[in-house]
Parts: sequence; structure tokens; C-alpha cells
Amino acid sequence: MPFVDGQLLRMRLASEPSLTPAECLSILRDVTRALSYAHAHGAVHRDTKPDNRGHMSHKTIAAKLSAPCLAALVTFAVSAAAQSTPPARGSGPQTINPGEIWPDNRGQHIQAHGGGIIKYGGLYYWFGEQRGQDVPPGQRAVSCYSSPDLVNWTFRRTVFTMTPADRPADFPGTGIVLERPKVFYNAKTKQFVMYVHLDNTGYRAAEVGVATSETVDGEYELIKHFRPLGRESRDIGQFIDDDGTAYLIFEDRPNGWHIAKLSDDYLSIERDVHLFPEHMEGGALVHLDGLYYAIGSHLTGWNANPNLYATATSLEGPWSGFKDIAPPESKTYGSQSTMLIKVVGTKSTTVIFMGDIWRPRTQWDSRYLWMPLEIGDGKLVLPEPRQWTLDVRTGEAVINKQAPAMVLPPPAPRGGPAGGAAAAPSSAPPANP
Ligand code: GAL
Repeated sequence: MPFVDGQLLRMRLASEPSLTPAECLSILRDVTRALSYAHAHGAVHRDTKPDNRGHMSHKTIAAKLSAPCLAALVTFAVSAAAQSTPPARGSGPQTINPGEIWPDNRGQHIQAHGGGIIKYGGLYYWFGEQRGQDVPPGQRAVSCYSSPDLVNWTFRRTVFTMTPADRPADFPGTGIVLERPKVFYNAKTKQFVMYVHLDNTGYRAAEVGVATSETVDGEYELIKHFRPLGRESRDIGQFIDDDGTAYLIFEDRPNGWHIAKLSDDYLSIERDVHLFPEHMEGGALVHLDGLYYAIGSHLTGWNANPNLYATATSLEGPWSGFKDIAPPESKTYGSQSTMLIKVVGTKSTTVIFMGDIWRPRTQWDSRYLWMPLEIGDGKLVLPEPRQWTLDVRTGEAVINKQAPAMVLPPPAPRGGPAGGAAAAPSSAPPANP
């Protein structure tokens, strides 16, 4: 029997503070599909219970299963639904320490670099580049975490991997680069649609890959890859406007960077909404009090630079000129933008700057710089990073002014552990040209 990576359902039920009825149904559907697949392949089953159930796609579960016991499954679904109690950990202000190791529910540093976040079924889901040292050289992976409060994250699973063998036959060049995954939920098709920057060694293909799944943390399958609007596309970002319209942001080296509207099914690009002629990447957007704020970085590969912002009353523009978000000499405090998250609470609204502090030679030890922005009336400032608290219910963010400003510890030695991350050599990819 092949080894199938994943999490036992028992572990998930123990660690997951809140499973919605929809999630229970989705798990039940996966399990019944797995059983049906197992049946179709003549497999025999004995004991169906959460300890025996991996939370994975029906095909992979089938590899572990024997015969069905529908009554036990229904019992399990009902008991899982009964666990849909409000999360204990998510109530009240939760502490974020920018730049520090950010442990997940397993005590391992979160591997969701260049990430994106969506809210679905009462939980936040964070998708990002999995740069753990256990990802074999030459392979790329995307991880998915969930949280009720944007601070305490549960590792759900590796939702997408690409090995050299999975490389699309018509993809140019050699090698795989898979960066900045962004997942959208399409309510019409009930599909989760992941966009990734898909590239080859040397970053010459400059395409996006589109992968889909029927569940938020299911096994995403690559369905196509292309150059959006026929243009080069490297760093990508996502933006979902207050009216639910979904946009892909992408960097087009010869021309600048685009805000592009996704098609109805999100599987392709409908139209170009705006092209910024400035050569920038790490693009992100937020809509606040009738104004759009766009941020991005200069093109300096893994090295930090002064990130900039511009504003407009419409995505189409006209956009203001770009200004610094922090003292330029701080180079965005060593980070690069990946997303802006707006948290609307009962008392306040907070916009969080999500940045990556890249450590290209020890990528697994790359850190996150999340800070609440001082934003409004056309101004946007990234405060000097230090400890702060976030309460997603009230929307309040409080910076601990007594706490020392962020000072990054030296990078972990190559091959050495980073905050509990597993150890094994990882390949540092070539610089994005
Ligand atoms: C950066 C980009 C990263 C990665 C890196 C490679 O400019 O933002 O996502 O592609 O280049 O050098």
C-alpha cells in the first residue's frame, strides 16, 4: 500500500475548533466517494471510523480503505457536526508577533509564503507556498491552513503538489516554479479555483496555472495553464471587491502590472480593468470607504525594497501617483507585499498588510510581517512592526507600544531546523528575472 500523506480525521476533529455542517457534509461526501471508488475496485472494508479516515481525496482514501459501513459514516458525520461549537481559541484579542516563527497547531512554522486568504464557512483559509525542508528538491507544493481568528492556524493539508512527472507535457522549458497561490471560491459553480504563478527554471514561461477542487482543502487538480490576456505573468495577487467581484492581479514584465477581472466561472480572464505602467510586483488591493488602495513592490527578486501605494475611486482609474508605505530606508522593514486583508468587525475595521520576509537560501525559515495599516482618506502607512493584537469579532487591532520593535534573528543555518520545521535540504530557486 503506498504511503499517502495527510491527516487522520481523528486528528482533524481534535484540532479543528469549528467544523461547519457544510464541512461535515463535504467530508462525508469524500468518504462515501472513497468507499464507492473502493467498491468499484473490489476492495473490502472492516472498520470505518475517524481514526482510519485520512482527510484526502476519494481516490487516495480508497487506497487506505476496505468496505463501507454507512451507518458508522452517518454516526461520524453527526458527531462531527456536534463539534461545531464556537472556537475556544478564537475569542478575544489574539497576539501577532511580526517576523517571529509562527507556529501552527502542530508547533511547526507556518509554510504559506507568498500567500492568500479567503473566508469560507466561518473560517479563514490561508493558502501559500509550502517551503518546508521536507518538500523534495524539484517539487513544489501549496499548503492550506484554517483559522477562526487569523492568528491560530490549523494545518489542513497539502492541497496541491507538482512533481517533475506532473509537469504539463506542453509546458515550455524544464523545471517547475510554482509561487504565490491564490484561491477563490466561485459560488455559482461551487468550485474552489486556485491560481498560481507557474513557471520553469529561469522564469521564462511566465504563465498562470489554474487548479480546482470541490472542497476548500481538497486535492486541487491542474486544469489549465496560460498567459493571462496573452501577456507575461509572474507575481500574482487576488482581490475580491465588496460586491464579490473577483480580480487577478498580475505582473507583466514588459508593460507593468494588471488588475484583470475573472470570468464568471473564474477559470479565465474576462477583461483587463487597469494596467499600471509602473514596473512593480507583489500587487495587492483593498477597498475602503469608497477608495481603492493598490500596493506593490519594486522588482528586486527576493531582496526587500520600499513598497509603494496609490489610490483611486474606481479600479479603472485614474490612479494617483505611487508613494512610500514606510520610510524607504527600512525597505518595508525587510518585507514584500502579498495581500491586504480587510477585517470588518462590530466596532472597527482593520486592514492588515500581509508581507513576506524572504530568506531565499533557507526558504522554510522565511517569516511573515503582518501589521495593521494606518489607512484612510487616501493615506496608507505601515507602522514599524512590533507585537499587536487582533480581535476579528470587533475588528479592533491594538499595537503594543511597549513591545520592542521587530528585530529579525539571523536566518537558520542551511539544512538546520527553523522553529520545529522538519529538516532536509531544499533547493533555492533561481531569481525571478
Ligand atoms: C520576487 C517575487 C517572488 C519570487 C522571487 C524570485 O520578485 O516577488 O515571488 O518570484 O522574485 O526571485
